[in-house]
Amino acid sequence: MDEKMLELLKQNLQYSYSPYSNFKVSAAVVTDDGRIFTGVNIENSSYGATVCAERTAIFKAVSEGVHKGGFSKLYVMVGSGRIGMPCFMCRQVISEFFSPESSIICCSTEGDHEEYKVSDLCPKPFGEEDLK
Ligand code: THU
Repeated sequence: MDEKMLELLKQNLQYSYSPYSNFKVSAAVVTDDGRIFTGVNIENSSYGATVCAERTAIFKAVSEGVHKGGFSKLYVMVGSGRIGMPCFMCRQVISEFFSPESSIICCSTEGDHEEYKVSDLCPKPFGEEDLK
């Protein structure tokens, strides 16, 4: 686990807006040209309007010009001390923008981590072909 990334993810947990669940999540995406965009979970009193950390990070990047397939890695860290996995709504969004060979690294605040290929965590997603 890259020490700088671990520190960035840990520092970023403080920005989680999670007054309802008190469950902090931090994420970061790395682009093919080495740029990093961070994200946190942003909750809402209308619970369904909550956005996960992974989607915040991806949407920040896309809204600043990163293209579909232009990501190499996604990191996700939960603040509980355990390793957390991306929810399935996030996996659908990951499938939209990440290539199947790119990586998802799920880590704890202690640096324990598990690395997966997008194709392993997001098998058979709904895709543009399904719209034809
Ligand atoms: N959460 C994330 O940020 N990412 C996930 O992949 C799973 C869940 C957030 C949403 C909510 O703010 C809190 O964790 C509890 O579900």
